[in-house]
Amino acid sequence: MTKSLGAYIHVPFCSTRCGYCDFNTYTASELTNDGSTVSPSNYVDRVIVEIDRQFNQLGENSKPIETVFFGGGTPTLLGANELVRALAHLKKRFGLAADAEITTEVNPDSVAAHDLKTLREGGFTRVSFGHQSSAPHVLQLLERTHTPGRTWQAVNWAKEAGFEHFSVDLIYGSPNESDEDLISTLAEVVTAPLDHVSAYSLIVEPGTKLAAQVKRGEVDQPSDDVAAHRYELIDQMLNSAGFEWYEVSNWAKPGGECRHNINYWTNQDWLGIGPGAHAHIAGLRSWMTKHPAAWANQVDSGLAPIAGSETLSEAEILNENIMLGLRIKSGISLEILSPTALAEAKQAVTEGLLSEQEFRKGRAVLTKSGRLLADGLVSRLWN
Ligand SMILES: C[S@@+](CC[C@H](N)C(=O)[O-])C[C@H]1O[C@@H](n2cnc3c(N)ncnc32)[C@H](O)[C@@H]1O
Ligand code: SF4
Repeated sequence: MTKSLGAYIHVPFCSTRCGYCDFNTYTASELTNDGSTVSPSNYVDRVIVEIDRQFNQLGENSKPIETVFFGGGTPTLLGANELVRALAHLKKRFGLAADAEITTEVNPDSVAAHDLKTLREGGFTRVSFGHQSSAPHVLQLLERTHTPGRTWQAVNWAKEAGFEHFSVDLIYGSPNESDEDLISTLAEVVTAPLDHVSAYSLIVEPGTKLAAQVKRGEVDQPSDDVAAHRYELIDQMLNSAGFEWYEVSNWAKPGGECRHNINYWTNQDWLGIGPGAHAHIAGLRSWMTKHPAAWANQVDSGLAPIAGSETLSEAEILNENIMLGLRIKSGISLEILSPTALAEAKQAVTEGLLSEQEFRKGRAVLTKSGRLLADGLVSRLWN
């Protein structure tokens, strides 16, 4: 089966860093302190050089791109015209499929109505807003800069601009969040014109400000039991509003699924453009130089900014298919499991983690309890 081609474009800039975040992103002062001259105003010029290099590298294996995802960081810090310029270059080189899905992440306070209009007119089809929570004290603990109402204002601007696909990211299980806070957040989410929701339990990432606050006892460690209960609340409220889970952390109304992410989870091909971006082309995985200054130096010197690459062995590919496939609604075929893993899967059915009905049809598909324990189950099924 021929694989579809996607493109991920990383934008490594944020105006401030949220205390919990360990993504590859930098504030202006962090970049200046590192002696870097790369900035939002000269970033797309380098992205364009990279698009050309990657197009030439693919040569005759190049094909029209079916999904594009601008992620960050804060892509909208580049300005809507610059995002459109990068997309136009991608289209000029590779071509875009007629029904291509073109997403950008948007921090709610980083766009105005006219930016969303520019993005829509420039070919973007989908916006993903980092809402996180509607409770002001939760947003404060997370060090978010937007007010809760700003997300809904921006969603309405996007709707007026002609977008049809809207998503929000939520973070649940923050130590100062109550069940009522989450229920109020979801009540707003289900009344907004969204067709997609991603919800992540708050992870205390090592090396972040949040990790230091937890270590000093200033902020409680998020509780796994609370997170599990909140996940059930999310699933329940989203289901009642017509959203269905299609990956452990993602829910969509019919037709609202993010095709770009489905391509990752089903092991298709994608280009990775920008510092730290990962690519996967014809079985070869590669990752770009992580720091924007070093990445920009390589691009400016005409070098490929690739930090490393590997070709996965058959066994590694199989384990990866198990890890990614088990988290999605269609699950995995039992045929790919080793005899030991199959016995584990049978045991997981008796534990209520895998659907008995699907198992009889030859597939391992998570139940709701299984979704809460997906990571542990993946390691039990690895060959
Ligand atoms: C790459 S971030 C960028 C989105 C955008 N910059 C924003 O914050 O609005 C994508 C999402 O990852 C989630 N995220 C980041 N760090 C997290 C953490 N430590 N725990 C849980 N979710 C996290 C947030 O929901 C965030 O919206
Ligand atoms: S705005 Fe998004 S990418 Fe930037 S620091 Fe916050 S969560 Fe991370």
